[in-house]
Order: sequence, then structure tokens, then C-alpha cells
Amino acid sequence: MSIVNDNLSRALAILHASGVVGMPTETVYGLAADARSTEAVAKIFALKGRPSTNPLIVHVASVEIGERYAMFDDRTRKLFERFAPGALTIVLPKRDGSASPHPNPLPGGEGTGNAISSLVSAGLNTVGIRIPNHPVALELLRAFDGPLAAPSANKSNHVSPTTAQHVRDEFGPELLVLDGGPCRVGIESTVLDCSREVPVILRPGDVTRAQIESVIGTVKTFEGHVDSSSAAMSPGQQRVHYAPRAKAFRMDTVPASLDLLNRHSRVGVITLGAIDVAHSHCQVESIGTSPDEAASRFYAALREIDVMSPDAIFIEMPPDRPEWAALRDRILRATQSVETMGPPRTT
Ligand code: TXA
Ligand code: MG
Repeated sequence: MSIVNDNLSRALAILHASGVVGMPTETVYGLAADARSTEAVAKIFALKGRPSTNPLIVHVASVEIGERYAMFDDRTRKLFERFAPGALTIVLPKRDGSASPHPNPLPGGEGTGNAISSLVSAGLNTVGIRIPNHPVALELLRAFDGPLAAPSANKSNHVSPTTAQHVRDEFGPELLVLDGGPCRVGIESTVLDCSREVPVILRPGDVTRAQIESVIGTVKTFEGHVDSSSAAMSPGQQRVHYAPRAKAFRMDTVPASLDLLNRHSRVGVITLGAIDVAHSHCQVESIGTSPDEAASRFYAALREIDVMSPDAIFIEMPPDRPEWAALRDRILRATQSVETMGPPRTT
């Protein structure tokens, strides 16, 4: 059965008019616009409040379409053969022409031709390409027959959305959101920079380092973080990202942290299920003991707790093992260490 419906045709009309729509993917919801239209891409940056130094991912329906905009190498073809459609974004050199303004711009300015707008990749000479594994996203991309720039559909530095309602909560009723149900993966795609000799994982995600290495051999993992004022190699690498509004702390050692909970009158706790929290003003979200389950529920749990406006949120840190790398990365970015917490209140 086709998912074509009124909303899909409305979404197409909006995209063709350089507008923005909410699009489900298997990772998180995206804020999608025609990647060739500078006017459309500028709307994404404005809606998100995102600095123009942070590049956007370009979503396409197939490898063939991706090759129109970026220079694929053998590693990229092998990786997409194995993991596309899926939660893998590959950063590649832009194709000649896509870095420069369209020679014959139509009314509406640069980027109304067939090249990716230079705004998409923040002036870099590379572009991130992803083929999402979601029937609604793929149907939209095929019907649109072009590249869609789509960052996660949240305000800059806020928690990524994993349901259509989350997107409406962020941007209000004016934005059309295609509802594709809750996201199966729940955290953003793995970003692999293949524009260099030894590829670098810029952001860990559902496709693991081991899976990538099983296809193309050794890759590196980017360590550390970058300054938000410069063109980031990966925006996800800024020190604070994916943050809830309440102060959030990660619990590295559970017994000590449980003691810390009692310093606050209203707290939220996200646990993998292993902590038995006894605290009278405490909202507990158990997100599951397997990496897949916990990742798929993490952002929704964070939002559910955040709307209760707690004094603090405590998040149980998963074990330091490869299968937990992606979720640990997101928790690290959303939290401070409990060690940074001030002394107990003395009321
Ligand atoms: O799962 C996802 O990737 C989601 C869904 C909607 O596809 N999108 C997403 O986009 O997370 P965003 O804008 O929130 O994150 C953008 C990521 C950055 O972390 C960065 O790694 C990567 O896109 N990126 C895009 N273009 C890049 C480039 N030219 N160089 C380096 N990184 C780039
Ligand atoms: Mg994001």
C-alpha cells in the first residue's frame, strides 16, 4: 500500500515553493527543504536558530542521485551498498559546480539551479549525503526527485525529536509535519568523513565503527570537541548539544549519585532499568537495558522529564563499551558530570 496521501502532496507543493516541512526518518525527525534552493535552506537555519557555520546533511533517495552532488569513491559505494538506506551519513567532496553559485540564477537567487546551495555545507567544499531508511522519507524523496537538506527538527542545541508531536512542540502548527510514527533508531545517524585518506567518524550512531571497519578497514574516531564559532567539521561535536532545558547530570557511579538526588526537591531520572530510585518527588524513565532500545527511547524520555521543569535531571551512564558508544556520546553532550554539582543546599 502506498503512503501517498494529502499530506504528501501538500509537502511536495511546499518543497517546490522553497518551503520547509517536517520529515520522519528512522533516526530522528528532520526539517526538510530543497537543498538546491538557497532561499529554502535559509529558512531552515532561521527556523532552527542555527549558526550558518553548521553544515546540513543532504538526503537523497538513491546512490545514483547522491552521485549527482558528491564525488563517491569505492569506499563510499561499498558502504552505501551495505548500509543504505540507513543511519549512515557520508561526508564527501562536493561535485564541481555544486560549490559555486548557479551560472544562470533564476529569480530567487543562487541555488535555484541544479547544484546544492553553498549554504547547505556552510561554505565547506564537502557535503554529507544520507539515504534514510524510512518509507515516508523515501516516498517523499522519490516523489520530490531531488536532494533534501534536513537537520534534526529541533531548535538549535535542543533535544532532537523522535515523534511528529515533538516537532510540532518545537515549531508550532504552521509547520507541516509528515507523521511517520516514532523513530525506530532514536538518535542521529553515524557521520563518517570519507573526504580524507583515512575516514573519520565525526559522530557515532547506529552504524558502528566495527560495522564500518568490516566493510572498508580501519577508520578513526574524532575525539574532543570544536568551537561553536568556527565552521565545525561536525556540528554534533560542539561541547554542549542535544541539551534539555533543565540542568542534567550524568551518573557515573550510581550509589554516590543516588545520594545526590536527595539534595533536590524535584528531580527526573533516566535509567537503563538498573536503578531502584526511592525519592518522593522523582520522575523516573526506564529506557531499557539494550543499546537499541535505550537509544530509541532516550530523547523522548528526556523531553518527558524536561516538561515537568525539574530542578535537575540525572541520567545513568551506560557502560563504556562499543555497542553503547552512540548513546554515551549523546548523554555526554546533554549533561555535566555530577562532580560539577555544587555543595548540598542547607535549607
Ligand atoms: O540522523 C540524522 O543524521 C538526522 C536526520 C534528520 O537525518 N539529521 C541530523 O542533522 O542529525 P543535524 O543537522 O542535526 O546534524 C548535522 C550533522 C553534523 O553533525 C555533521 O556531522 C554533519 O551533519 N555534516 C553535514 N555536512 C557536513 C560536512 N560537510 N562536513 C562535516 N559534517 C557535516
Ligand atoms: Mg541536530
